[in-house]
Amino acid sequence: MLATDIVNALGYPYFQAPNCWIYHLDCLEVLAHIPDKSINLTVTSPPYNIGKEYEKPLPLEDYLNWCVQWIEQIYRITVADGAFWLNLGYLSIPHRAKAIPIPYLLWDKIPFYLIQEIIWHYGAGVAGRHFFSPRNEKFLWYVKNPDNYTFNLDDVRDPNVKYPHQKKNGKIKVNSLGKNPTDVWEFPKVTSGKNRSSPERTPHPAQFPAAVIERILKATSNCEDIIFDPFLGSGTTAVVALALQRQVIGLEIRQDYCDIAANRIDNFLTQQQLRDAQLSLF
Ligand SMILES: C[S@@+](CC[C@H](N)C(=O)[O-])C[C@H]1O[C@@H](n2cnc3c(N)ncnc32)[C@H](O)[C@@H]1O
Repeated sequence: MLATDIVNALGYPYFQAPNCWIYHLDCLEVLAHIPDKSINLTVTSPPYNIGKEYEKPLPLEDYLNWCVQWIEQIYRITVADGAFWLNLGYLSIPHRAKAIPIPYLLWDKIPFYLIQEIIWHYGAGVAGRHFFSPRNEKFLWYVKNPDNYTFNLDDVRDPNVKYPHQKKNGKIKVNSLGKNPTDVWEFPKVTSGKNRSSPERTPHPAQFPAAVIERILKATSNCEDIIFDPFLGSGTTAVVALALQRQVIGLEIRQDYCDIAANRIDNFLTQQQLRDAQLSLF
């Protein structure tokens, strides 16, 4: 299916650029209109129900039911060999847990097949006084069909190999492109603050680092695939998808965040045009 067929089913977007469409709408409203088996890869991070500025916390059962509802829709719209990457944090359950990983509460309620849990480890964060300082989040990699899914390992190999010249039976043992990057990924968090703000930071309070999304998109999608993010926020998934020659559809309930994403995409496209123009001089 073409991305334009999906866009025709959804109507006029809030923002569009070549290969990119953003809707300023509630994802549950939009998802029902997206055709079956039309999206190659969904990458997203929903609200964690912890009272951030973009969410109203729900009773736990209601929150989990809401997650199940939109994830079931993602399953329906994903192509047969497609995938779904879900970034979810922790929440407190009174008298039971200070910080329970949300995926533990959802794992048997959703139809996808779980390939792997990736630990994203970062250096900055709050300091614990009565517990270890939290320094990780999880990315869950789900697929529709465990026997048929995209995994472009060579596109994401880690060139930082300790013993690159190691031999077996006289032949170099190590892949010349590098090693498998494993299921623990080190990427700095997008930080704010006077002297420590990340260069990529926007005013959105929960921005993905572009480098994490780049690894996910390179490894588990292909050029021209249709990438989807139903909780687009500042537009990280969209910018990375465009940089990697994918098509992208994003949904975001807040207009101010849609504007941040739209500006970011415009800036990215302007920079790209400048780079292309400079290259054409040589
Ligand atoms: C964790 S943030 C995503 C941040 C994003 N990954 C980025 O890199 O900026 C979740 C986003 O979901 C949006 N959101 C919350 N409920 C929504 C809904 N029902 N439909 C669409 N977007 C929603 C919030 O406004 C917020 O921007």
